[in-house]
Amino acid sequence: MVKVIMHGCNGHMGRTITGICENDSDIEIVAGVDPFDGVDNNYPVFKTIKDCTVDADVIIDFSNAKAVDDLLEYCVEKKVPVVLCTTGLSDEQLAKAKEASKNVAVLRSANMSLGINTIMELLKKAAQVFAPAGFDMEIVEKHHNQKLDAPSGTALALADSLNDALDEDYEYIYDRSQRRQKRDPHEIGISAVRGGNIVGEHEVIFAGLDEVITIEHTAYSKGVFGKGAVEAAKFLAGKAAGSYDMADVIAAK
Ligand SMILES: NC(=O)c1ccc[n+]([C@@H]2O[C@H](COP(=O)([O-])OP(=O)(O)OC[C@H]3O[C@@H](n4cnc5c(N)ncnc54)[C@H](O)[C@@H]3O)[C@@H](O)[C@H]2O)c1
Repeated sequence: MVKVIMHGCNGHMGRTITGICENDSDIEIVAGVDPFDGVDNNYPVFKTIKDCTVDADVIIDFSNAKAVDDLLEYCVEKKVPVVLCTTGLSDEQLAKAKEASKNVAVLRSANMSLGINTIMELLKKAAQVFAPAGFDMEIVEKHHNQKLDAPSGTALALADSLNDALDEDYEYIYDRSQRRQKRDPHEIGISAVRGGNIVGEHEVIFAGLDEVITIEHTAYSKGVFGKGAVEAAKFLAGKAAGSYDMADVIAAK
């Protein structure tokens, strides 16, 4: 049984993970940390990580960038591995996470979904087959109308997976409206759709002569990130110091 401290336990993702762990006999939340106390939890909740007196095998973090410095210090001091999911970390904080990983296991990913991370692995193979054979590669992503950034960080990460697998550099094209020229074979078009309450859809299209292959991922709820984080926590418990990501979790499956 893996014992977890849920950092940010009363937020959207913290509550989602609490629900997932209640139905998983291999993992248990033994404590939570959150300054907001409006939620009834069946584990003790501390206001800050420094107040936490409960021992655990691993910490799952979905909180706030401002909370991450203290968290990393705690993890290094107590030698507790951490699944770091909070986004919007500064360059200094990313450097701090890297430094912490010399002393404790740190797993960080901007997208914790097992589906997206597995697709990233599949795309490397697909790109190596299809790009040299002249297939055009395009990505279409769709999100709700409240999302501020476009394209999504996940769409860019998918494009990077394609690019990293290829010998030549492919240029990312976000807008063709001002261009009056044919598509260059060495480009990856990335299009963003915004509307309604779409949680997140990503399509990677390989368009060749008389055939089209589409690899598609649909998230129906933020639960996909919670499920990935729980799998990552099980993987990370007991691991030696080092920097890990979701590719390590998938490779161990
Ligand atoms: N990596 C991924 O796949 C992924 C997926 C979803 C969300 N996120 C990120 O996770 C973070 C949380 O997302 P959310 O939707 O649950 O947000 P949320 O605002 O619903 O929850 C955040 C919680 O953190 C708590 N918090 C604030 N300061 C804290 C502190 N010092 N210590 C402990 N807890 C503290 C807040 O009170 C709140 O309950 C965001 O940065 C979000 O972008 C990452």
